[in-house]
Amino acid sequence: MAKKPASKPKETPVAGKPSSLVDTRVIYCGDNLEQLKKLPDGCVDLIYIDPPFNSNRNYEVFWGETKEKRAFDDRHASTQAYIDFMRPRCVELHRVLKKTGSFYYHCDWHASHYVKIMLDQIFGENQFINEIIWKRQSAHNDAKQGARHLGRVHDTIFFYAKSDEYAFTHLYKTYDQEYLEKFYKHVEEGTGRRYSLGDITAPGGAAPSKGNPHYEFLGVTRYWRFSKEEMERLYKEGQIVQAKNGAVPRQKRYLDEGKGVPVGTVWDDIGPIQSASDESLGYPTQKPLKLLERILEMSSKPNDIVLDAFCGCGTALVAAENLGRQWIGIDVSPTACRVMAKRLRDVCKIKEDEKLWRIGRGFVVRDLPWTEAKLRAMPPFEFENWAVIALGGRPNVAKVGDMGIDGRIYPVSATPKKDKGELGFMDVWYPIQVKQKDKVGRPDIDSFEAVMTREDRTKGFFVAFDYSSDAMSEIQSFFKKSGKSIIALTVKDILDEQIAYKLA
Ligand SMILES: C[S@@+](CC[C@H](N)C(=O)[O-])C[C@H]1O[C@@H](n2cnc3c(N)ncnc32)[C@H](O)[C@@H]1O
Repeated sequence: MAKKPASKPKETPVAGKPSSLVDTRVIYCGDNLEQLKKLPDGCVDLIYIDPPFNSNRNYEVFWGETKEKRAFDDRHASTQAYIDFMRPRCVELHRVLKKTGSFYYHCDWHASHYVKIMLDQIFGENQFINEIIWKRQSAHNDAKQGARHLGRVHDTIFFYAKSDEYAFTHLYKTYDQEYLEKFYKHVEEGTGRRYSLGDITAPGGAAPSKGNPHYEFLGVTRYWRFSKEEMERLYKEGQIVQAKNGAVPRQKRYLDEGKGVPVGTVWDDIGPIQSASDESLGYPTQKPLKLLERILEMSSKPNDIVLDAFCGCGTALVAAENLGRQWIGIDVSPTACRVMAKRLRDVCKIKEDEKLWRIGRGFVVRDLPWTEAKLRAMPPFEFENWAVIALGGRPNVAKVGDMGIDGRIYPVSATPKKDKGELGFMDVWYPIQVKQKDKVGRPDIDSFEAVMTREDRTKGFFVAFDYSSDAMSEIQSFFKKSGKSIIALTVKDILDEQIAYKLA
């Protein structure tokens, strides 16, 4: 099902020519460390990255972060491993950034303090511009009953510039009702214009620094911002108001002349993606388009090149396309690359087409390793690994005596068993069965049903090239009898990006 964009383009998108330095409108499939080495120095204007905390696990594409459920020691050891993993990648990202470019690193409490130190070392402490706090959920979503910590409701986005020549545009938010009622409480008679009353005394009070004029006006003697003549003119025009005799006069500031509230470092006006929203693709790590559009509007201009080297389901690429920027995406997961290609086609209505791409329209996906033919020819164990990882699961380490289970999915949304402590989440998992078969029949489903019954699982995943109609009706009657569901996925579902909708 095609999804609509959640927010409309704010500027007319420019078709734009690919840059002469580097190919744009390209999704590269592969480890970004390798892919980045192919890019020349100083070739992109803006980089946004949102790496998974434990980057060796592709399955986070689907199920998100499970790390916080682990014991502290494990987390601490992994933090070092995470920084070791990220450092060479950030060095490469710094290299490919233009002198005028900006860099945004999206992370959270797991590693943000370590990331800041690493980035200070790579970019230079003085190139740190801002720490942005994105309030992504309300407190009750995190502070579970009995938890002895505050709700972890925000992500951190570090903003660095490569040099002092970085491009930057101040943004303004529309005023919310509470702000309007508090600060723009006056309504002008006759015109109906809302206004606030602003201070017109000189900055610095009784000792202003800039030699402001000192005189009496409406019975009040002060250092003022305006000359006496200017003050009188404004007063005649009805711009200066004195609330009562003896009160310090103030100047009307009209709401319709204001730009809005300047965007600061705390972003609490962009909500998380709701699963029912048009924008949602069903991935827990998907970031809202509005968040990326704000970053792009602040730190890039139309036709600038935006790079996301951990681009997941391609939010930064869609934002770039919406705002008429050029873009480059990199992701190690072939499934993520297919999902974002589909999103660009469905949402941005651009074609994945080599010929169009050559003339500066359309886009291409490079270095995808998988085709149905290659998968058929793979050794069975490798095929099993591919399928399990593509589903966001963990393959079984032992391939012999796997008791009908090729992998397990640990959904992050599942509630761990209370009596199992820190590792309680390990009890909530769904089995994956993989068959490198053209037609899975009823007996294959029967034996998977036995596995699900034996392991007392409510949901299981089956992957094959196709299913007989008998197999499909057996899945239905098993659900009717036991309430347990088997999700039958084909290799084509996975390759054709349908997987997100089936898993959501
Ligand atoms: C948190 S998700 C990004 C989500 C994205 N911001 C969005 O809104 O959809 C992180 C992505 O990084 C990818 N990734 C992990 N390690 C990688 C690597 N070494 N090279 C490229 N991509 C990688 C994962 O496959 C995953 O899709």
